Amino acid sequence: MSGSPSPDQKKLQDRLKKEAGISAVDLVRPGMVLGLGTGSTAKYALEEISRRLKDGRLSDIAGIPSSLETERTARELGIPVITFDDKQEIDLTIDGADEVDPGLNLIKGGGGALLREKVLAQSSRRNVMIVDESKLSPMLGTHCPVPVEVIPFAWKPVANFLRSLGGEPVLRMNQDGSPYATDQNNYIIDCGFGPIPDLGELAVKLGQKAGIAGYGLFIGTASEIIVATSHGIRYQKRKDS
Ligand code: A5P
Repeated sequence: MSGSPSPDQKKLQDRLKKEAGISAVDLVRPGMVLGLGTGSTAKYALEEISRRLKDGRLSDIAGIPSSLETERTARELGIPVITFDDKQEIDLTIDGADEVDPGLNLIKGGGGALLREKVLAQSSRRNVMIVDESKLSPMLGTHCPVPVEVIPFAWKPVANFLRSLGGEPVLRMNQDGSPYATDQNNYIIDCGFGPIPDLGELAVKLGQKAGIAGYGLFIGTASEIIVATSHGIRYQKRKDS
């Protein structure tokens, strides 16, 4: 999200996203309950799951989608979809991220699905993040703002609160000029903080503020990442997972 990539960079990024997505599906085993991520990288994983279901390399899996968009895509691709009413434990979630630090903490929510994505992440035994190398960062906040999901009633006081924390809040808008609405009909404030030295401190403050329904800092949820680089795929496990 930092600056716009050139068409060539975009093409390379797409190829790498696809490689990361396909590679993650090697971790899927028959019988698994999957968490289905949202975004362009996660979509490549969905397409690969669908291919393997169709050619018989995979069977007997079911997925809990992290957004209405992912639910639609999964259904179109013939991936069995279930909800938390059916199962509350996920074996493996495959999802993308907007920014990843060396400790595998993440900023997520560029696609607006942060709240459901975090519910999935916290319900999963294994959380595999799939990214291209442009998402790697020395410190979260360096490249991306932190998406903050907020109930519409509270967005202005929450924006003031974010400013008081040193952030630069921007209400996410649709192209037609209306506020972007999440699957929960909430708004999203993209809040630029710059590099965030103390993620835990910021998370506590965001978590305590009434009106904030969720925020896109994912601290300690990722168990592993698959990074597609121009030199091949790199797999990294979180040290304490
Ligand atoms: C969705 O809300 C996000 O968390 C996505 O997972 C994230 O924005 C990554 O998206 P891309 O895979 O499209 O880059």
